[in-house]
Amino acid sequence: MIAVDGGLHHRLDASGLLRVVFDLPGKSVNLLTPDNLRELERVLAEVAGRPEVRAVLFASGKPGSFIAGMDVTEIAAVTSAHRAAEAARFGQSVFQRVADLRVPTLCMIGGTCLGGGTELALACDWRVAADDPAVRIGLPEVQLGIIPGFGGTQRLPRLVGLPTALDLILTGRALDARRAQRAGLVDLVVPASYLERESLKLLERAISKGSAAVASETRPRAKRSRLWERVGPLRRVALGRARKRTQEKARPEDYPAPYRALEAIEAAVTRPLPEGLDLEARLVGELVPGATSKNLIWLFQSQTALKGDAAVARGVPRRVERIAVLGAGIMGGGIAQLAADNEIPVRLKDLRYEAILTALRTASAVWERRLRRGRSTRAEVAQRMAFIAPTLSDTGLRHADVVIEAVVEDLDVKRRVLADAERTMGERAVFASNTSSLPISEIAARALRPERVVGMHFFNPVHRMPLVEIIAGRHSSLEAVATVQALAVRIGKVPVVVKDGAGFLVNRILGFYINEAVRLLSEGARIEAIDGAMTAFGMPLGPLQLLDQVGIDTARHVGDVLRAALGTRAGSDSALLAQMVAGERLGQKNGKGFYRYRDGRPSAPDSAIYSLAGSPPARDLPPETLQERMLLVMVNEAAVCLEEGVAREARDVDVAMVLGTGFPPFRGGLLRHADQVGIPIVADRLARLADAHGERFRPAPSLLRLVREQRRFHPVP
Ligand code: NAI
Repeated sequence: MIAVDGGLHHRLDASGLLRVVFDLPGKSVNLLTPDNLRELERVLAEVAGRPEVRAVLFASGKPGSFIAGMDVTEIAAVTSAHRAAEAARFGQSVFQRVADLRVPTLCMIGGTCLGGGTELALACDWRVAADDPAVRIGLPEVQLGIIPGFGGTQRLPRLVGLPTALDLILTGRALDARRAQRAGLVDLVVPASYLERESLKLLERAISKGSAAVASETRPRAKRSRLWERVGPLRRVALGRARKRTQEKARPEDYPAPYRALEAIEAAVTRPLPEGLDLEARLVGELVPGATSKNLIWLFQSQTALKGDAAVARGVPRRVERIAVLGAGIMGGGIAQLAADNEIPVRLKDLRYEAILTALRTASAVWERRLRRGRSTRAEVAQRMAFIAPTLSDTGLRHADVVIEAVVEDLDVKRRVLADAERTMGERAVFASNTSSLPISEIAARALRPERVVGMHFFNPVHRMPLVEIIAGRHSSLEAVATVQALAVRIGKVPVVVKDGAGFLVNRILGFYINEAVRLLSEGARIEAIDGAMTAFGMPLGPLQLLDQVGIDTARHVGDVLRAALGTRAGSDSALLAQMVAGERLGQKNGKGFYRYRDGRPSAPDSAIYSLAGSPPARDLPPETLQERMLLVMVNEAAVCLEEGVAREARDVDVAMVLGTGFPPFRGGLLRHADQVGIPIVADRLARLADAHGERFRPAPSLLRLVREQRRFHPVP
């Protein structure tokens, strides 16, 4: 075998089979790089006309990974449209050489096959995948604010038909091997140990019978689905529906990629391949230098880094074989479902059997939804469910490596639960509290072994929110912190380590945001103006809608905790919230909040709020003014959090805000947004707001330092 820099090996054996193996040095996954693409180009140029080459097989030298796509750091570094388009044209030309080979070509997919990996597979005659959970095949580019640029937008519709291609490219979702076969993206799925044997067999058949004859045997469905592409009105229906779905999800100025992908896919079904490829490259050129793609790629890299080494965990994590969850409420039930979904046996304890039943029903509803969408099988659901063992006593607690507490938010109750658990827990087991606001060190104050008590703060709903705040208490050991950090990654979450303190990071910053929204309301702004300003900015919900969802009583409680710790900067006790709680106006859960509810859904703002607030809506403030107050108060508090070491770095604030609150990903996070506005402008606006509205806006010392030193929160744009 000849090995070269980019980790591409190739060997021609006596039977005329050329094997091309990707094995990027020093990495656990294969990525496409300019180096290995150039090597591939060289190899292909060399073999193209050689008669002794009878077939080409593409494979990976890494278990569990075929090719996970183009190295995103390469894409992140490109700032010119011309260079981006040229890079796409180069990749296209290399894969076109694959497509142009006159001998049968086959990709052997034994693991993740994404982006450029899938585009290489599409350029081959055949794709064979292992029936292995590591296999994921897809084109996730739109999730990074770009579109497939090595021919994917053109070849996928040609292979799998218009409706499937639209679905896969516009959502960016990846398919497992079986689903990829059903979609027509893969020709054959075989047990992992037969992957090579069956791939070679298929190539042999293609060599002896000719690719076309074998294709008609293996792809009998292909012809039928061509109607969608060939018949104009049908084609327009499919594209029209996809456009409508795209418009419902995001605005083109915020997320241009799916709109550009639609253009490219339309070209795939209406124009010859070279024209479609040219358009694809031009659209890539347009998207790559854009702010949205830069922000989305940066977020992706940051999340990968936070998950990677479990974010510079200094301790060695303990192996976790099984866990226990105390409290089968909204959160405990969610955490148990998540653990079970990741095949970790979980003991779920509550005092009340009804709570456990509800938790089991809720867990099963999450799996049933997946079942209905065809993303899971009945057997899988039953098997996952069996990982949850409910109990009303302490049985099984002794065997848990991590005990997660999710009982009511009350310091005394939590201390009691910890004391009880310590009697039964194993010596070195970790106790993690899911408290949303109580300092971990206080919960651990009377613990027998405070070193094993940590915080593991999940967000609601647990199965959907990707963030977990990991909180080290004053006495928490490095091992305990590293253990829950690794556990969070294992169950698919992104862990952000934050310092112990009121509200930790996300709820503390959110507290300032919500407080500002309620103040604006009391100053005469309308409910819909406040919420509308923030949804226009890109938040999934307005702050008052969020309050209704969290529950007015819960939010008020968090407000109390923040005020007790941070003083009046965190707001004064809101008379409005107090009155709402006193009047049993608790938000969505009892159908009465800032909004009126019909069948559990908000119908309209409730004008009764204005008389409670003692302020009829008097002022029509422009959305920019409302946004500025609600955003800058958060930026300022985030700067304080960095000063105090609540967050370790700006990256952590941004990832936590995006994953924990839905802060618009296309803006890259709270502090990247501040950087993009300009730090001197942010500081200046804050100073003016402080003069007009109070000291909570007075720019934090660290923010003023950034201005003096002409720096930003993030050193690199
Ligand atoms: P919940 O009220 O839905 O559930 C609490 C459950 O704990 C109840 O089923 C109760 O019977 C049970 N319980 C009480 N004492 C117990 C004991 N000694 N042993 C076993 N079970 C016991 O509460 P929820 O909303 O699930 O919250 C739980 C914790 O998670 C709280 O600390 C809360 O602050 C935190 N949290 C809540 C979030 C939310 O959005 N609901 C978000 C993040 C954290």
